[in-house]
Amino acid sequence: MTAPILHVDSTVRPESRTAALARWLLGRIGGSVETVRLAEGAAAPLDGSALRRREALLAEGRLDAPEFALARQFAAAERIVVSAPYWDLLFPASLRAYFERVCVVGITFAYDPTTGAPVSLCRARSLVYVCTAGGPVPRNLGFEYVRELCSAFFGIQDVRLLQADGLDLPGADVDALLARAKAMWTP
Ligand SMILES: Cc1cc2nc3c(=O)[nH]c(=O)nc-3n(C[C@H](O)[C@H](O)[C@H](O)COP(=O)(O)O)c2cc1C
Repeated sequence: MTAPILHVDSTVRPESRTAALARWLLGRIGGSVETVRLAEGAAAPLDGSALRRREALLAEGRLDAPEFALARQFAAAERIVVSAPYWDLLFPASLRAYFERVCVVGITFAYDPTTGAPVSLCRARSLVYVCTAGGPVPRNLGFEYVRELCSAFFGIQDVRLLQADGLDLPGADVDALLARAKAMWTP
């Protein structure tokens, strides 16, 4: 059985242009899609009690605990699409909380016992980061952060950005900017 595409959706607004762009991409990719909607509270930040519980579970080797469901899902996905509106030079805080839940030693990566270097335990070989931004974004720090996580921990080398920026500039033709981003996309 083919593992589904995992869609990590951090969009917030019902009329989200990022979500529309991601829907277009997912339609192009095809196949079954499993969506995690972060705006609905799918991943809470790790507070003190959550962190203590997580450390206890890891010490007992209980990787099948419900607390690690997001990490297991991420590790099993074959392809990953992340939808992230450009917020404050980065992305919504819910996406950072999601990665706190997904970076779990023993599930998404492990440390090499000899060298101490992270070794991927993820199945996915590709990730697309979908973003729209109000202003021009010559350097997308949110994308760069996720690409670094993919390289350092998840072993995902094919990490690509699908971006439409400048959408909130005066006189911007939003439909044309979205169409241009789609036209520039090569599968
Ligand atoms: C909280 C917040 C922070 C934002 N920060 C930025 C920013 O730093 N740079 C920028 O160009 N646009 C910024 N914007 C504008 C959004 O990037 C832009 O409207 C984007 O298309 C929103 O995505 P959405 O339509 O998927 O919600 C921000 C918007 C919000 C609501």
